[in-house]
Amino acid sequence: MKRKLKMGMVGGGSDAFIGAIHRNAAFMDNLIELVCGCFSVNPEISRSSGREYFLPDNRIYTTYQEMFEKEMLLPEEERMDFVTIVTPNKWHFEPAMMALERGFHVVIDKPMTFSLEEAKILQKKVEETGLVLALTHVYSGYPAVKEAKARIAEGKIGKLRRVYVEYTQGWLSKRIEMLGGNNAGWRTDPARTGKAGTMGDVGTHAWHLAEYITGLKVEEVCADLRTFVEGRPVDDDGAALLRFENGVAGVLMATQIATGEANNIRIRVYGEKGGMEWRQMDPNRLILRWEDRPTEELYMGSNEYMSDLALWNTRIPSGHPEGFIEAFANIYRNFVLTVLAKKRGEAPDYKILDFPTVADGVRGMQFIETIIASGNDHCNKWCKWIE
Ligand SMILES: NC(=O)c1ccc[n+]([C@@H]2O[C@H](COP(=O)([O-])OP(=O)(O)OC[C@H]3O[C@@H](n4cnc5c(N)ncnc54)[C@H](O)[C@@H]3O)[C@@H](O)[C@H]2O)c1
Repeated sequence: MKRKLKMGMVGGGSDAFIGAIHRNAAFMDNLIELVCGCFSVNPEISRSSGREYFLPDNRIYTTYQEMFEKEMLLPEEERMDFVTIVTPNKWHFEPAMMALERGFHVVIDKPMTFSLEEAKILQKKVEETGLVLALTHVYSGYPAVKEAKARIAEGKIGKLRRVYVEYTQGWLSKRIEMLGGNNAGWRTDPARTGKAGTMGDVGTHAWHLAEYITGLKVEEVCADLRTFVEGRPVDDDGAALLRFENGVAGVLMATQIATGEANNIRIRVYGEKGGMEWRQMDPNRLILRWEDRPTEELYMGSNEYMSDLALWNTRIPSGHPEGFIEAFANIYRNFVLTVLAKKRGEAPDYKILDFPTVADGVRGMQFIETIIASGNDHCNKWCKWIE
């Protein structure tokens, strides 16, 4: 294809957080251009945002229903190729289904849907259409995380035994959702966020990171969920013991009331021969621990010792920080290259296919179901993974 892929957006107006990160990431490799969008639930904000992004008025829409309808009236070469959905969780499923039904590929933020039922329907639709759906579990896009995954798969730290994964934030330590003017409102409202609060918002990232790095699936969960801030109708803190395949044991912690914390997602994995640690607030460093030799620190960007998987997702030489936006960009690039390969009838390389898909989205919703079921059951705590 001799042109960029054309992107539409649902959400991501000037009233939003993550939409701008998506645009920056999408544009990083010069493979994507923004052509249209319904950028906000507020038509005025959608219009002003679209103009800020230099779109013509006829490609700025006030509802996503209008967007899909009008885009379909355009000649194929003009209309969008894919849509990015960055709305609150309640408004993920409908636009995603509308996109797939009309032949558009989809990028969607996590958690993939509002409910597990929706996730399964979406998966079926992706399978039926053969279209590509990328889910932006961004932490799997970091080079150091890819490096950890590659080394674990090669058996460098031996047979795995134990995983500790945590996502600690502090911004919901007070009931700021009552103040307005922030995006805590929908995140703490079960009618818009879904069954889980913190476990859906950041717990899903921690769970995904653990399964991604280890290559193992969680089979059972034993959770203690809390709501520390009075009056909040969803969990704002919790911890769970995890049982992975192959007898691997895990602990997952996710909280948004750890006062003073920022975006401290961290994972430690231990095997029979060694251990590994990665922390997103120090994203280019991977720590390796050994029984018989001193601790090693690997810095991403140096091709002397990095795996092909990590190198493919590395953009700049060692010492220049690569972070959140680049990790999103890695997902976008791999998504686009997969779409283009499909258009040519080719099978993409494993490094390109290494991005979260609809299957991760379904498992993410199953994680929410399972951890909430376990958290609500005060007697019989161990809960089998809910399919
Ligand atoms: N991957 C990550 O690291 C990450 C980080 C933050 C948020 N997220 C996810 O991204 C999504 C959005 O989060 P956010 O923090 O940007 O939320 P936000 O509240 O800041 O922004 C939501 C945007 O969606 C728009 N919107 C709401 N309903 C709409 C509708 N019906 N049609 C069109 N636009 C609509 C709002 O006007 C706003 O522009 C959520 O699902 C969230 O879980 C993911």
